[in-house]
Amino acid sequence: MLRVVAVLAALAVGATAVYAQNAGAIAQRQATMKEFAEATKVVGPMMKGEVPFDLAKVQASLKVIETTAIKGKSVFPDDSKVGDTYALPAAFENKADLFARFDKLAAEAKAAQASMKDEASFKASMGKLISGNCISCHKQYQKPSQ
Ligand code: HEC
Repeated sequence: MLRVVAVLAALAVGATAVYAQNAGAIAQRQATMKEFAEATKVVGPMMKGEVPFDLAKVQASLKVIETTAIKGKSVFPDDSKVGDTYALPAAFENKADLFARFDKLAAEAKAAQASMKDEASFKASMGKLISGNCISCHKQYQKPSQ
């Protein structure tokens, strides 16, 4: 009997360790997405004309989006597929497409740092960068409940 209890206890510890690792990876992914959100929060009100255009802030946001997109490829380990996550299983089953999307976003955010030079060029392309990358990937790989 004691042996059975010991084995069960060992299994429980093992399960907890696996879950903790998994929850950590999910939390890291969501924190990475929050970095994206912080960057887009700065440019969103400028797009709507609620705050004055500020090229330095736009450039800083684009830089954060670029580096975060590069990091994005490291926050979808297979053991983070199940748990308290809004990522669809498809994200883990189509990693080549998922990673290509992060590469595309990084490249576009980098190119935008050179091409967005004034309010007109910002307004002409910032919306496209967000809808063509953030929203497009969420439609494909994020549970619609969020
Ligand atoms: C290549 C795919 C992809 C791209 C590109 C992408 N996201 Fe996400 N995003 C996801 C997935 C998948 C989740 C769900 C993560 C989870 O719950 O584990 C998510 C979740 C989020 C969340 C919710 C985070 C939370 O706390 O639960 C926010 C906010 C977010 N993304 C913002 C953005 C913004 C802003 C951009 C663009 C600058 C962006 N994302 C680009 C795939 C992507």
